[in-house]
Amino acid sequence: MPDAKIAVLISGRGSNLKALLDACAAPDYPADIVLVISNKPKAAGLDLARKAGVTQAVIDHRDFETREDFDEAVSERLRAAKVDYVCLAGFMRMLSPGFVDEWRGRLINIHPSLLPAFRGLHVQERMLDAGVKIAGCTVHFVSAEMDAGPIIGQAAVPVLPGDTLESLSERILEQEHRLYPQCLRLIVDGRARISGAVVQYDAQVEGAGSLINPPVD
Ligand code: GAR
Repeated sequence: MPDAKIAVLISGRGSNLKALLDACAAPDYPADIVLVISNKPKAAGLDLARKAGVTQAVIDHRDFETREDFDEAVSERLRAAKVDYVCLAGFMRMLSPGFVDEWRGRLINIHPSLLPAFRGLHVQERMLDAGVKIAGCTVHFVSAEMDAGPIIGQAAVPVLPGDTLESLSERILEQEHRLYPQCLRLIVDGRARISGAVVQYDAQVEGAGSLINPPVD
């Protein structure tokens, strides 16, 4: 089977884009990134795409009168590139229901919390304020509500005494970079698929052990 064609949508730093680019560079990885779109002209992630020799486009949301017009311009580029899946990687704009409908089942996002807890912005700060002891990240299919949709995979990390916004964000981000390529592979390989409101794995995908924080003796 030919590799799946992936587009990645970014707004900033692009470290998750980098993780996906690195994964796709491996000969046995079943996907290729064919297009990177940023809504911000100065997004650092654009340089990563350029260095990897991937086509990049800036579609600046400020050039459009409505959200729908912007989303249609993005969709048009995605259609023209004949992409199979669209990965949001730090793409910080809400997408209109029309866009989500068109790409439903092919639109994937990563979010730095264990959804459905802590949707939205300033997630790591809010987790520290809430005193949670286990944090993490989620890769999920996108539905019309913000940070919602069938969950493909999650990674959990402990919140440690003395954690700061930076240390916790960094610990979660490290797992984001492992989780996103792994989840994309499961989807592209057809080993994980949407079933109603959830994602089901085929029999060969095994669960991991437990994370208890603080550890029990
Ligand atoms: C990541 O932590 C990602 O999970 C988050 O933005 C960051 C982007 O970093 N996304 C969201 O909060 C989406 N709701 P990156 O540009 O280095 O990949």
